[in-house]
Amino acid sequence: MTLQALVLVGGKGTRLQPLTSEIPKPILTLVDRPFMRYMIEWLGSHGVDEVVLACGFLPDQLQGVLGDGGEDGPRLRYLVEPEPLGTAGAIKFAAPYLADRFFALNGDVLTDLDLTALWEFHEERQARVSLGLYPVDDPSNFGLVDLNQDGSVRDFHEKPDPGHVGSGLVSAGAYVIDREALDLVPEDRKVSIEHEVFPLLVGDGLYGLRLDGYWKDIGTPERYLEATWDIIENRVETAADVDGRGVYVSPEAQVSSRATIGPRTVIADGCKVGDGARISDSVLLEGCRVGEDAVITDSILAPGVSVASGVAVGELVIGKNGHVDA
Ligand code: GDD
Ligand code: MG
Repeated sequence: MTLQALVLVGGKGTRLQPLTSEIPKPILTLVDRPFMRYMIEWLGSHGVDEVVLACGFLPDQLQGVLGDGGEDGPRLRYLVEPEPLGTAGAIKFAAPYLADRFFALNGDVLTDLDLTALWEFHEERQARVSLGLYPVDDPSNFGLVDLNQDGSVRDFHEKPDPGHVGSGLVSAGAYVIDREALDLVPEDRKVSIEHEVFPLLVGDGLYGLRLDGYWKDIGTPERYLEATWDIIENRVETAADVDGRGVYVSPEAQVSSRATIGPRTVIADGCKVGDGARISDSVLLEGCRVGEDAVITDSILAPGVSVASGVAVGELVIGKNGHVDA
């Protein structure tokens, strides 16, 4: 049997702009590889052999970077909706390519949660949809879930008002779905699985299981940086080539021996950093140029950004090919 995972990657990545204005979020580099690689590797480690990427926009750039998979990991397949159909609409659109039971994932989380346990739980409960759950302090940006004793969902509340803490368990954006449940999704319009489908399934086959491990939605600059530190400081299990000391400098970068790098810094392929520059708590994506004695703190530089000599950059997110001049 082919084990499939449908990954939703159609969002615009608005909250990560300007980083994502020219680079789709799934292929934005996180430490040493495109973000989506981590998801594919994680899915592969749970036995997934085909990943279907549900793209809301032209997948050429995505496919160019991620390829068709298959050598050591899952095969990759790309589907494009005619227009963004929402989280449920996108899954329904992919249904002709999906097996009777499959994983579905939001495409913007860095995680090592135990999907195999979720699959087993789903089968034991004979659920229609099972949600992987994760505890957070502030559920207001997520789908808040209350459970009954047997793991069935008592209440699903997307983006609850701040202060409405409930169980503190939120949907991790990782589901096991029986394709038959997609009958509930109306066709030919945008449909949100969180707003329109999960509430309908409450009391009718929707289950949730708290999963342990690491989980983070990387959809904002703050969380993108947190995920970066978590990888380079070894708080999440990934295949990234890091030594746990909190600094990653690509072997393809040219950094002056008279520059000071770190703590907590990533310097990607093709960057050049001049004498006396100081970079801390920051990420420099591919091909950035940093002049002599420039100081960069708490910032994210998209590919191709140049920072002139002697300039100080602090708490900034700079879009592709931007210039910071003296
Ligand atoms: N193909 C496709 N088409 N994908 C879409 C569409 C669409 O129309 N709309 C959104 N997506 C993708 C996004 O790219 C993202 O990977 C995923 O669906 C979820 O959308 P987000 O916009 O990131 O939602 P969110 O972070 O506010 O909330 C969701 O994730 C939380 C966990 O991170 C919800 O599922 C919450 O319930 C959940 O707690
Ligand atoms: Mg998200």
